Amino acid sequence: MPITVANHPLSHHYLSILRDRSTDPQEFRHTSRRLAYILLMEATAEATLEEYGLETPLIHTTGLRLARPVVAVAVLRAGLGLIDAVIDMLPDVAVGYAGVQRDEETARPMEYYTKFPAMEGRLVLVLEPMLATGGSLAWAVERVKAAGAEHIIALCVVASPEGVERMNTEHPDVKVVTAAVDSHLNDHFYIVPGLGDMGDRLFATL
Ligand code: URA
Repeated sequence: MPITVANHPLSHHYLSILRDRSTDPQEFRHTSRRLAYILLMEATAEATLEEYGLETPLIHTTGLRLARPVVAVAVLRAGLGLIDAVIDMLPDVAVGYAGVQRDEETARPMEYYTKFPAMEGRLVLVLEPMLATGGSLAWAVERVKAAGAEHIIALCVVASPEGVERMNTEHPDVKVVTAAVDSHLNDHFYIVPGLGDMGDRLFATL
């Protein structure tokens, strides 16, 4: 499974703000959005382009545009922290939602809601900020594949080695873009050093 770890200085800068427990929810949301721009740039770095004719104020010339329409699927809740940046940079993006809850005892994903746009022939970005056990992301990828997705890239803020390994085993065709691969998971399946519960920090439900 291909993995890209964003190494831009601003990526490290923003991730450190997210990791800091003193960052309040408003700053956390703003910073998540800023980091999402960087993850999206990495995710689309090899996107296929197609030529088309256009008129500048001076002449007819050839422009380039994304050859494949893009779908973004936000894995609820934390994926909402990345969606605004994606909509901002790709205004034509079609947005889906995948509602999955983590069973706190087993860390297994429990589905409670999905709503997907058409997936065939599109570049599908799955927004799952915390790649911890990999259960939620593997589940979301299964669901989008079942809906027809073939070109899938996952955007994660932080990944664990365990989550990366699981994606590598279950979905080796899916590229993962992340700002960091952290040390390990703790006994409660949180990423260490991590940034805590992303949903709680975004939505002040701590
Ligand atoms: N989900 C989170 O929000 N944080 C973790 O560390 C793991 C899963």
